[in-house]
Amino acid sequence: MTTIAVLGAGKIGEALLSGLLHGGRSASDLLFTERHPERAAELTARYGIAAVEVADAAKRADVLVVAVKPQDIDPVLDELAPLVGPGSLVVSLCAGLPTSLYERRLPEGTPVVRVMPNTPMLVNEAMSAVSPGSHATAGHVRIVEEMLSCVGKVVEVPESQQDAVTALSGSGPAYFFFLVEAMIDAGILLGLPRAVAEQLIVQSAVGAAKMLAEGSEHPVILRENVTSPAGTTINAIRELEKHGVRAALLAAIEAARDRSVELGKGHERD
Ligand SMILES: NC(=O)c1ccc[n+]([C@@H]2O[C@H](COP(=O)([O-])OP(=O)(O)OC[C@H]3O[C@@H](n4cnc5c(N)ncnc54)[C@H](OP(=O)(O)O)[C@@H]3O)[C@@H](O)[C@H]2O)c1
Repeated sequence: MTTIAVLGAGKIGEALLSGLLHGGRSASDLLFTERHPERAAELTARYGIAAVEVADAAKRADVLVVAVKPQDIDPVLDELAPLVGPGSLVVSLCAGLPTSLYERRLPEGTPVVRVMPNTPMLVNEAMSAVSPGSHATAGHVRIVEEMLSCVGKVVEVPESQQDAVTALSGSGPAYFFFLVEAMIDAGILLGLPRAVAEQLIVQSAVGAAKMLAEGSEHPVILRENVTSPAGTTINAIRELEKHGVRAALLAAIEAARDRSVELGKGHERD
């Protein structure tokens, strides 16, 4: 059985640990590091998982999952460098950090797999994209995919596509939250109480997501099915098209991709 250590048990790190427990991993096969003792004690009380020092994590775990903020990566790499090697597996959940950064800073041959998860990991519905670094094998990728499938869906992409993934599924939940927020406002405009508008829209979003995820129909067909001739929906669609919502989404996601590329450049020569 693989022992997994999460380095930095914040929102994403905790969600992964919790998902792994729900997915059937035993607490004794999991470890985490955390710099605030109160937070560490709280997590151990909640999940029964031991908090350890990085050195202990590197000694005991087969998989080291780095889940600190990208700006906190330097001290973590400095600590890991003397402790890992080709026999370890380092998994980075850090947005924008290339596998080449890890490969430069860790001993030659250390396998690294880069992952772009998203916040629905908190409810076991993450969309994660994994990319192997130059020393990671198909077997390493399989270990990571198995681990992440406890907290949602997983896809493998070449690392060159990680900026697009970041813009699409990494930031994706925020676009849906924005849409839901705007639709609730529309309910208020039409005179509905906020709580009712919220319930109507959130459940519609859940229902639509379920139809998309569980059904076999393409989104275009699903949309056409609720767009009857001379009906209400087509009037709304005309306004969405008139206001360029489709073009706005294309431009927005392209801008997010460009920003991800820009942020990544900061680590090219680290
Ligand atoms: N949240 C998202 O939407 C999302 C989506 C995709 C990817 N990610 C990636 O996931 C990673 C974690 O994000 P998050 O939202 O979970 O951040 P977070 O809540 O700030 O969690 C990071 C945790 O790591 C701890 N930490 C920092 N340096 C440490 C060290 N040297 N040793 C041990 N613990 C350390 C932090 O402690 P302090 O509280 O002291 O800082 C914090 O508890 C990021 O790299 C982010 O890019 C996040």
